[in-house]
Amino acid sequence: MSEITFRIYRFEAGKDTSPRYDEYKLALEEGDTLLKCLNNIRGTQDGTLAYRMSCGSAICGSCAMRANGHALLACKTQAAGLVKNGVIQLDPLGNFPVIRDLVVDLEPFWGSLRKVSPWLQPNLADEPERERLQTPTQFQLIDDVTTCILCASCWSDCNVLEVDKKFLGPATLAKAHRFIFDTRDAKGQERMERITEPNGVWDCTHCGECSTRCPTETKPLARIEETREAVMKAGITNSPGARHALGFRESMRWFGALNENYLPIRSVGFFNIPGILGIMPVGLRMMLKRKAPPMLPHWIDKVGEVKRIFKRFHELRKSAGGTGTKTDGDD
Ligand code: SF4
Ligand code: SF4
Ligand code: FES
Repeated sequence: MSEITFRIYRFEAGKDTSPRYDEYKLALEEGDTLLKCLNNIRGTQDGTLAYRMSCGSAICGSCAMRANGHALLACKTQAAGLVKNGVIQLDPLGNFPVIRDLVVDLEPFWGSLRKVSPWLQPNLADEPERERLQTPTQFQLIDDVTTCILCASCWSDCNVLEVDKKFLGPATLAKAHRFIFDTRDAKGQERMERITEPNGVWDCTHCGECSTRCPTETKPLARIEETREAVMKAGITNSPGARHALGFRESMRWFGALNENYLPIRSVGFFNIPGILGIMPVGLRMMLKRKAPPMLPHWIDKVGEVKRIFKRFHELRKSAGGTGTKTDGDD
């Protein structure tokens, strides 16, 4: 295969004032992984190039970096598929401070994980005579998420983390799911309450980047959705995110469409006066710009059909073993 150019981010914290890109030419051979190319460049062209690697087999998670703007594992990705106009651009993972070149400071990631106590906490009063067993069905609940290799690719490309460094982040929420759904763990309620606090499970915007970039079956967004369902079923609904979800459904059920006057107030809470005062400036600005929705509620023409769909859903959910409560379905 012909020679291509690797355009690689270079920076050394504490020494350089701004980053630069260095270019290296390399002839690709069929099947070369990105990691093999980097090893080749470091071994034959520039021994100062810094990046992390260990297993070379997509197990340790240390070789995550950005190629052409997106996070991936260098050891799992063939270089040929990344070439654009003869170039592959490599950058360090996003949303982290850079230590040197492609090596980032992962402390924000580890710090976030520590907040959800990522270890099994069984009921210690119940002393088993042997290991705590699970059935295959019970294990299936956590099967996907146990494949997480803590590579931080999801963290790198999470859009919420770009603007809110306090967000727990996709891998942490996936890890919380792993223990909430583990039948051997006794702290499920506590864990759910922890992640429904501000900056937790309700702050994800569903962009899906984490699942797209995840090199394993963890797929954080799917785990976040399952966790949200679990917290609603557990009745943990006293948070803006949960109220927003409930308000969205109420709005659809009553009006057949989104009522944009009702939803913000329902989300902050009807009796939350400081919260309501806090969103009023936004409403006023919308009114001044003539973007505010009409004050009188609007019902779609066939709202009866929407109500029937909700009713049918509720019946099906109940017959499938749901609780049939308002949180679970509809009335
Ligand atoms: S889906 Fe949510 S957690 Fe995943 S990257 Fe987007 S905002 Fe972040
Ligand atoms: S969830 Fe996926 S992308 Fe995120 S740390 Fe785990 S394996 Fe990596
Ligand atoms: S070197 Fe271990 S995952 Fe790539």
